Amino acid sequence: MNDDILHPWVEEILASKKYRDLHIPPETVTALLAAEFERFGKIKPAVKSAKQKLHNIVASYLGDPDYEQAIDWMTTQLPQASPQEEQTMCEQLLSQHASTRERLPHLREFYETIFAVTGKPSIILDLACGLHPFGLPWMGLPQTIEYHAYDLHKPRTNLIQAYFSQRYPHSQAHHQDILLNIPTIPADVAFLFKETHRIEKRAKDSNVPLWQQLNVNWLVVSLPALSLNQQHDLRDGHRNLVNNLLHKTGIPWQQTVTEVYSEMLFFLQKT
Ligand SMILES: C[S@@+](CC[C@H](N)C(=O)[O-])C[C@H]1O[C@@H](n2cnc3c(N)ncnc32)[C@H](O)[C@@H]1O
Repeated sequence: MNDDILHPWVEEILASKKYRDLHIPPETVTALLAAEFERFGKIKPAVKSAKQKLHNIVASYLGDPDYEQAIDWMTTQLPQASPQEEQTMCEQLLSQHASTRERLPHLREFYETIFAVTGKPSIILDLACGLHPFGLPWMGLPQTIEYHAYDLHKPRTNLIQAYFSQRYPHSQAHHQDILLNIPTIPADVAFLFKETHRIEKRAKDSNVPLWQQLNVNWLVVSLPALSLNQQHDLRDGHRNLVNNLLHKTGIPWQQTVTEVYSEMLFFLQKT
């Protein structure tokens, strides 16, 4: 019954000018709308609220490159590009999204700090990755790395796949909602960068099943230490958020916390 009510609205949101080129998985919009319909009991306020949530999930306001142009470069220029040219292109891409732009000035230190704790991984899951896989040239990992990048924004996963196909043949970009279809590939490390607090805005405690079901040695969660405008200190709130979520998983974890230039890094290991 609900399906009949929700379906036309889901179709309308997916076909809207704002989202039609992003190919958000239909199940994401259906789940959002179903939850809001349950909450409001009426379709109009449910649609309004689901649209607001989708706006925050996709977060186009954080920035985008020109995907067509970038894919064209990956397929025509990258095969003969020097490592320096590849790095320059990756730097340009990273600079187009707020999350990756913020860490550009200290990328090497960022990855050195992570791998000093986790060891150099052979298999990585990058959850809700955005443009972060273009940091690979700074990670110091071999081309044999198995890097699984997950995002629900299709132009992003297409671009990342175009990059992997040329440079990292064992790696894969997955167009997938990580909360509805939790990745269970066994891996050394999972990155969940700058997304945990946003996932909680989608639905409270929705990190919990994700953290429980990941089949990884290390889960590295990052959260901003300061607000986007740099005015507010978020450290205490974010430490509490991670501790509460860990507690709710009901699993004993070992936790180490550090910070690289205003990005808090939580190294989590199931014991
Ligand atoms: C704030 S950006 C984070 C980027 C990246 N993790 C970083 O720190 O550089 C959020 C990204 O997560 C993606 N995303 C949000 N929720 C998701 C979900 N449930 N499944 C897959 N991707 C998701 C969005 O499409 C967007 O590209």
